[in-house]
Amino acid sequence: MTGQQPTASFAPESARDSAFLKACRREPVPHTPVWFMRQAGRSLPEYRKVREGIAMLDSCMRPELVTEITLQPVRRHNVDAAIYFSDIVVPLKAIGIDLDIKPGVGPVVERPIRSRADLERLRDLTPEDVSYVTEAVRMLVGELGSTPLIGFAGAPFTLASYLVEGGPSRNHEHTKALMYGDPQLWADLLDRLAEITAAFLKVQIEAGASAVQLFDSWVGALAPADYRRSVMPASAKVFEAVAGYGVPRIHFGVGTGELLGLMGEAGADVVGADWRVPLDEAARRVGPGKAIQGNIDPAVLFAPREAVETKAREVLDAAAGLEGHIFNLGHGVLPNTEPEALTRLVEYVHEQTAR
Ligand code: CP3
Repeated sequence: MTGQQPTASFAPESARDSAFLKACRREPVPHTPVWFMRQAGRSLPEYRKVREGIAMLDSCMRPELVTEITLQPVRRHNVDAAIYFSDIVVPLKAIGIDLDIKPGVGPVVERPIRSRADLERLRDLTPEDVSYVTEAVRMLVGELGSTPLIGFAGAPFTLASYLVEGGPSRNHEHTKALMYGDPQLWADLLDRLAEITAAFLKVQIEAGASAVQLFDSWVGALAPADYRRSVMPASAKVFEAVAGYGVPRIHFGVGTGELLGLMGEAGADVVGADWRVPLDEAARRVGPGKAIQGNIDPAVLFAPREAVETKAREVLDAAAGLEGHIFNLGHGVLPNTEPEALTRLVEYVHEQTAR
């Protein structure tokens, strides 16, 4: 999509003028907006309490619980956006893939997808498959008022990596074997995942999400030429499918310094960078016309307050000349992070950037 973002068609009007959405649109902001990937979750005692005895995937299917968990970091930290509490594998579970999220491990798939016959198990996702998402997003948007809600999904490559490996993986051996060994099957797999992902994002947007983030967490494992050939067409298909809503589209992956330009080219309005590339350099790589999100190392939050502020200052200095900066970590909040360190960081960024 080119030019000005039109009014988001389903999100509340009151969220439109938030600092977060203004920054996504590269408009002047009253302060630099802040949110944190994985801001809900194990770093918060109130999260651990409400999740007691409830499995991760079960919790994602309970709208009232999802609403409570999503609101927890907004209440506590005064962040500028909420992110819908769910997981990237929820749409796969919803179409009947036999998977679970194992505590301390991550998503595990009983029967990995590696053959043409396996591909048939990836059927279309309909809104009825995830009616609990529609319900939760509507509830949340009502509760959040002028605070925007970010919907999200896993990008085709990262979803494929879990489906093909059967679980988390360091080297993505089976995934790359399929990508290089059977390019047609790989392309068909990613195309299927793009359709499922697009349908899942549409559900969230139509229920009122103000923005969406496509997480391609593990795509940094690829070289640019392979990304362009084997991944970009599917990610571009997802972005294209939701372009008409006029809702900002954010794209993020870890270790993607060499891919930032291509990830923007895939169709994102905002590109997220991890901490390995300074933000001004990230913006140069992404090119003009896109906002930048990031990028403090999540492990920095374990250092004393002064050190966190020094690092935050570096990020703000690097962002000083940019049009459209959304302050975030360079990856998700680590589970042992002290919540107070996050609250202080939000306060610091708001204070330092108030104009
Ligand atoms: O920020 C938020 O509030 C939204 C919550 C969120 C979760 N998963 C909840 C979750 C988001 C945005 C995700 C996305 C997700 N899930 C990604 C992309 C983001 C990233 O971190 O790169 C990925 C790769 C996954 C897959 C996944 N699910 C992993 C790697 C894990 C962690 C495994 C572990 O236990 O260490 C999960 C489980 C998961 N998803 C948890 C939460 C809060 C932990 C499970 C629990 O609390 O019981």
